Amino acid sequence: MSLQNCKIINLPKIEDPQGNLTFIEGENHIPFIIKRVYWIYDVPGGQVRGGHAFKEQQEFIVALSGSLDVVVDNGKVKKSFSLNRSYYGLYIPHGLWRHMQNFSTNSVAMVLSSTFFTETDYIRDYEKYLVWPKK
Ligand code: TYD
Repeated sequence: MSLQNCKIINLPKIEDPQGNLTFIEGENHIPFIIKRVYWIYDVPGGQVRGGHAFKEQQEFIVALSGSLDVVVDNGKVKKSFSLNRSYYGLYIPHGLWRHMQNFSTNSVAMVLSSTFFTETDYIRDYEKYLVWPKK
């Protein structure tokens, strides 16, 4: 899958003096049905997470709190996206290598996934990813 399809998507933001509200509808704001939600938090300073690719899973990552960088890689070109607001997120199609880094203190990264958890969907070895037939 092309790196060009990996993109920041802005979400609705309902501004109110009592506080802001943002929402996501699967298939409406993001191009897949949401099957799973998980979040990454309490990441110690300097830690890197998520060095892998998914064969089928598409995902959408939002920094609900704090900030982090997501580096996406198609085996040839790398692109880094900074997530630091809860009213936008990064859509990552299947088949791209990615990792997350530079987590700020108390950051929370929410990941919406198009699939249930399946370990066989992961490619965790970068050398294997490089020779994996990209669709
Ligand atoms: P992993 O996806 O490797 O984390 P990261 O990419 O952020 O470093 O998942 C870490 C562990 O958690 C791994 O043993 C699989 C397990 N896991 C689940 O059981 N269910 C899930 O939905 C996720 C995302 C991970």
